[in-house]
Amino acid sequence: MEDPMKPVRTALVGCGKVGTIHAAALRSLPEAEFVAVCDTSPERANTFAGKYGVKPFTDLSTMLRVAAVEAIIIGTPHPLHAEPAIRAAQAGVHVLIEKPMAASLADCDAMLDATRKAGITLGIISQRRFYEPVQRMKAAIDAGKIGKPSLGVFLQYSWREPSYYASDPWRGKWDTEGGGVLVNQSPHQLDILLWLLGPAAEVNGCWANVNHPTVEVDDTAVATIRFKNGGLGSIATSVSQKPGIYTKVHVHGSNGASVGVETDRGATFIAGVSTIAEPALNDIWTIPGEEHLLAQFQAEDRAAFAKVDATTHYHAFQIGDFLRAIQVGQPPLVTGHDGRAVVELFSAIYLSSSDRRAVRL
Ligand SMILES: NC(=O)c1ccc[n+]([C@@H]2O[C@H](COP(=O)([O-])OP(=O)(O)OC[C@H]3O[C@@H](n4cnc5c(N)ncnc54)[C@H](O)[C@@H]3O)[C@@H](O)[C@H]2O)c1
Repeated sequence: MEDPMKPVRTALVGCGKVGTIHAAALRSLPEAEFVAVCDTSPERANTFAGKYGVKPFTDLSTMLRVAAVEAIIIGTPHPLHAEPAIRAAQAGVHVLIEKPMAASLADCDAMLDATRKAGITLGIISQRRFYEPVQRMKAAIDAGKIGKPSLGVFLQYSWREPSYYASDPWRGKWDTEGGGVLVNQSPHQLDILLWLLGPAAEVNGCWANVNHPTVEVDDTAVATIRFKNGGLGSIATSVSQKPGIYTKVHVHGSNGASVGVETDRGATFIAGVSTIAEPALNDIWTIPGEEHLLAQFQAEDRAAFAKVDATTHYHAFQIGDFLRAIQVGQPPLVTGHDGRAVVELFSAIYLSSSDRRAVRL
């Protein structure tokens, strides 16, 4: 356990699009002392360092040592999360990793092994868990208000321009991104589904590339899930609707009551490029005796949204949760095991699609 009153010396690895969100969040947090950035591109590292008044590095080990870093946040492309995470863990540095935890289960297991051996704190970004409507759903389910969560539905009708995939050489390719909509845009809601319904037991799925002929990977996927608690799940996730419409997660319970959230209106935002223009809102709330609360929840969330920059606010919430976890020696809200469960789920959808069979998890 660290000193709970002492800010954690924190550095960023990856000075790209999502790095701008982390940097803004770190500057706003009393739990953080933002000390350094690292990017393999010296120009990017120098630009960030100048903008945020921290030290630039192009080599991770040098940064950890010279800047006496206690925690890093990794915002590199997905297949490049594991290497810096393992190196940091071996140096005794705590690690918070952008979603998805990795593009492969092997990378997840190597990170879990290294962080367990080192005894450091590992967290995975899933900032939509911190949305007030999602927190409300979790509290209601934990309080037993919908009985057993028995049907979980995740719908994502989003859009990505061809220029989005062309914006960085790693995007849209199996080797350098590890997948498409399942790997990049869906992990937030896959994590919420697993958080609300518990672990998945079996998956059937398939994917397609509907209207992005310049990329190799999936822009659309569907799946059904059987959860370990006996509940069922249904997923339709896509970045092929132009314009994007919405992204929702609904959970229906064994007593007939339902709770739901629209996590995103229109296309999901692109970090460092677009901002969150509309609040996440509960869109279904049929718990007996609480039906009237839906309008109240929506009014509260619209009012709160007007007072914050939602694009950085929830990242700051999660980074704060992670740094406090280090300070008090407790696990963060979203752990490495939670991150692995998401990677296991999307990997099972790809496997089910290629083998045309149900995959047990
Ligand atoms: N939570 C969210 O809402 C959210 C939003 C956007 C992106 N992300 C995630 O953040 C990650 C990065 O996405 P992005 O859009 O910022 O990508 P990006 O390409 O804009 O930035 C990645 C940066 O990492 C740097 N980099 C690559 N390899 C490196 C290494 N070994 N060491 C140090 N730096 C290295 C690159 O030079 C680049 O500056 C992805 O995993 C993505 O899924 C999360």
